[in-house]
Parts: sequence; C-alpha cells; structure tokens
Amino acid sequence: MLEVRELRKSFDGFQAVGGVSFSVPRGSVSAIIGPNGAGKTTLFNLITGHLRPDAGSVSFKGREVTGIAPHDLCRLGMGRSFQRTNIFPQLTVYENVQAAYVSHRGRGWSLFERVERLFREEAESVLASVGLLDKASEIAGFLSHGNQKQLELGIALALEPEILLLDEPTAGMSSQETRESIQLIERIARERGLTLLFTEHDMEVVFAISQRITVLHQGRVIADGAPDEVRRHPEVRRVYLGERH
Ligand SMILES: Nc1ncnc2c1ncn2[C@@H]1O[C@H](COP(=O)(O)OP(=O)(O)OP(=O)(O)O)[C@@H](O)[C@H]1O
Ligand SMILES: [Mg+2]
Repeated sequence: MLEVRELRKSFDGFQAVGGVSFSVPRGSVSAIIGPNGAGKTTLFNLITGHLRPDAGSVSFKGREVTGIAPHDLCRLGMGRSFQRTNIFPQLTVYENVQAAYVSHRGRGWSLFERVERLFREEAESVLASVGLLDKASEIAGFLSHGNQKQLELGIALALEPEILLLDEPTAGMSSQETRESIQLIERIARERGLTLLFTEHDMEVVFAISQRITVLHQGRVIADGAPDEVRRHPEVRRVYLGERH
C-alpha cells in the first residue's frame, strides 16, 4: 500500500529524518514509534505531501507520489489526521463531516438541493461509526478534547481514504480514553477495510493492535517488524524502553 524509500529531511542543517525506509502492507495496522523528536511527525508530513523531502521516494498503491500536493494525495485515497486537532470550531459536528463530504465529492448535480441535506446519510453513518451521532448538532468547538479527536477521525473518514495516517490520534487523552479511542479506530479500520499507519506514545496500545512496528530514533529506523521482534530488539530496549543492559 505504501512504500517509503530512503526519505530524508533536514531543517537548517539539522537532520530530522535521515534516510528512512519501510513499507505498509495493504489492510495492515502499522505503527511508527519513537521518543519525542524522533522524526515521526516530520515523516508523516513527508509522506502526506505537507513537506517536500530532500531525497528519497514515496510510492502509494504502486505509484510514485513523492512531492505530490496533500489534496491530490487525499484524492488518491491517502487520509490523515494531525497531532493537534484540526476542525471547524464554529460549525456543528454534523456540518464538519458534511463539509468534508462536499469538499471531497463536490456538490455534483444537486445545485438546488438544500445544503443541509447533502450527504446526510453518509455523514450520519460516519458520525455513528465514531460515536458522535448524539452530538451531531453541537458546536464542534465546545466538544470535549476526546470528542474533538473523534470528530477529526470522522472528517478524515468522510474523505473516503484507503490508508489513514494518524499522528498521535490520542494526544492529550487519559490512558482510559486512549484505549477506548484506539479500539474504536481499529474497529473502524477493520469494518471499512482501511490500512492504518499511526503514531502513539502508549506502548501497551501500540503493541496490542499493530501487526508491524517501525521504531525511529534520531531520524533513523532502529527496528522494524512484528511486535514480538521489535519488543525483543536490544537497541529498542536500550534507547526507547529505557533499559540499560
Ligand atoms: N519545521 C521545523 N523546523 C526546524 N526543526 C524542526 C521542524 N519540524 C521538526 N523539527 C525538528 O525535527 C525533529 C523531529 O521532530 P518531529 O516533530 O518530527 O518529532 P516527533 O517524533 O513527531 O516528536 P513528538 O513525539 O514530540 O511528536 C525535532 O528535533 C524537531 O525540533
Ligand atoms: Mg510528532
């Protein structure tokens, strides 16, 4: 689904991503982990076209997409969410998801249809998936932080992605909320046949749901594989899990 080869990015001489390669199989749940500043967000921005790499390539569904603009990647089926929440705070929950559908699919021939009816079924189905149907008419900016993250996931789903890149979808949540939220994301991915690539600081969650884990440290991959392999990897234990052997 996704193949990243030798991606590099420096900021003013500081190498944030230093030659990263990994791949994400179709239909898998994969995680990128690493300590603060390891380069995870930068890597996501390189993959999703928000940053241009200094070198390396990204291919998506077998097609080279390096340097393609984010909205074009989105149209090809690459969805993402941000580490910080990205919603329209003054719109209702329903309108946020509906606006995503309108921007993605266009108004088509329904020029004379009342706006609030557009993509109603689709928007309601997404809101039901993310558990926000009962809050559809609330103003998004007044939702709790956890609910805003759920909404952001709903907006991402409305763009009908085949792969979803989630950069710390549980940032700022309690560990209980984190678990619930990740279970929700995993269920949605399974139901909709989505490929998932995410970053997350809660290791228990990462190891519980991922089929593949790539570990970044100072902009480089130090381990990559199935959870069991990664867990046993000496360098991971040393630099990341904080063990001294
Ligand atoms: N636009 C930028 N300009 C300069 N330095 C940057 C920029 N973006 C990121 N960096 C630096 O690159 C390194 C990697 O940052 P990045 O945000 O990718 O890490 P991260 O793994 O996502 O960290 P976190 O877990 O805290 O989200 C950091 O040292 C950061 O300060
Ligand atoms: Mg980050």
